[in-house]
Amino acid sequence: MNILVTGGCGFIGSNFVRYWLEQHPEDRVVVYDKLTYAGRRENLQDLWDSPRLSLVVGDIGDQDLVRRTCQEQGTQLIVNFAAETHVDQSILGPLVFTDTNVRGTHVLLEVARELGIRLHHISTDEVYGHIRDGHQSVETDELSPRSPYAASKAAADQLVQAYAITYGLPVTITRGANNVGPYQYPEKAVPLFSTNAILNEPIPVYGDGLQMRDYAHVYDHCTGIETVLLKGEIGQVYNVGTGREMTNLEMVDIVLETLGKDHSLVRHVTDRPGHDRRYSMNVDKLRALGWEPKYDPRQAVAEAARWYAANQAWWEPIRSGEFREYYERQYAERLAGSGQP
Ligand code: NAD
Ligand code: DAU
Repeated sequence: MNILVTGGCGFIGSNFVRYWLEQHPEDRVVVYDKLTYAGRRENLQDLWDSPRLSLVVGDIGDQDLVRRTCQEQGTQLIVNFAAETHVDQSILGPLVFTDTNVRGTHVLLEVARELGIRLHHISTDEVYGHIRDGHQSVETDELSPRSPYAASKAAADQLVQAYAITYGLPVTITRGANNVGPYQYPEKAVPLFSTNAILNEPIPVYGDGLQMRDYAHVYDHCTGIETVLLKGEIGQVYNVGTGREMTNLEMVDIVLETLGKDHSLVRHVTDRPGHDRRYSMNVDKLRALGWEPKYDPRQAVAEAARWYAANQAWWEPIRSGEFREYYERQYAERLAGSGQP
């Protein structure tokens, strides 16, 4: 099969490409990626020589280039990871989230419709919004996004469903929990906290740190997507996570313990505006297809922290480059006014 993986140079996309090429030796993958700050060729450095992998640098909003690429490459399946993905960045500069996540996904749908290609879309548990205690989101729940990022992902998710209903386009959607693992850009909490701990820099916990997240290993997200691609029902949505949450403070404990660092690094800082208190998903629908996660959330966070300890050469150039400017903007004032626990 010929697969176009958009956003394949990012965190989950690159893990997915690596996994797919290993597991499906007959298939060819074309990565289509704009190479934003989060998209890095080096995430697949050891694989670019493979005749089964190639890269097209482009924007998913560029309809002509997407169409031409699919025609030239004989694309049979589009897997859409491409997105602006960080909630805090969406609060600082939201418009690009609409451009890429909404319009970009719409362009992919149009090309898929024109050329008759199946499209699998990567959505997120954030589309369900804050989840009250005692409930776990199921796929039929209403979408209730609360950040510009989540709203753009919900719009994309609904456009994909609309194309299935209106045009009969063969689509599937997975809604993933908080992924952790190799090659996650250090703006996200687990890699940020891990790399800060390694550098003995303060760990900025938003608010009281009692927000709940399902920290799932990216490997299990990849196997979940594979399961849906191979066994999922066309037109359906599937949640992918462990189905178990922990507080951010528990996540910080695991990071510090794994790296042998002290709690004195923790700072409680001004909260993220509109911060969703809890995400929690029921993953029985995916389990019914025979999928099971390999990692529980504690193992997933510990494994991720260990990867950052062992792969300083990957993240050091990122942290010393353009990332510094973002870090100052996001954290300088917060950390200046922070207190230890
Ligand atoms: P990431 O930020 O690490 O990577 C995003 C990739 O998309 C990068 O390679 C970037 O260059 C590319 N990209 C951005 N704009 C583009 C554009 N206009 N055209 C082409 N390429 C573009 O993101 P990630 O964490 O790997 O997330 C991948 C997908 O999974 C996203 O759709 C995200 O919403 C979804 N998701 C992420 C998580 C998570 O915990 N990280 C959880 C659930 C769902
Ligand atoms: O739930 C899936 C989503 O997970 C994905 O759709 C997003 O693309 C991905 O970024 C992630 O969103 P979150 O906002 O949940 O992840 P983040 O790593 O930014 O934050 C995790 C938790 O940690 C959240 O409750 C906010 C908190 N946090 C985050 C940062 C960056 C802090 O306390 N301090 C921080 O500095």
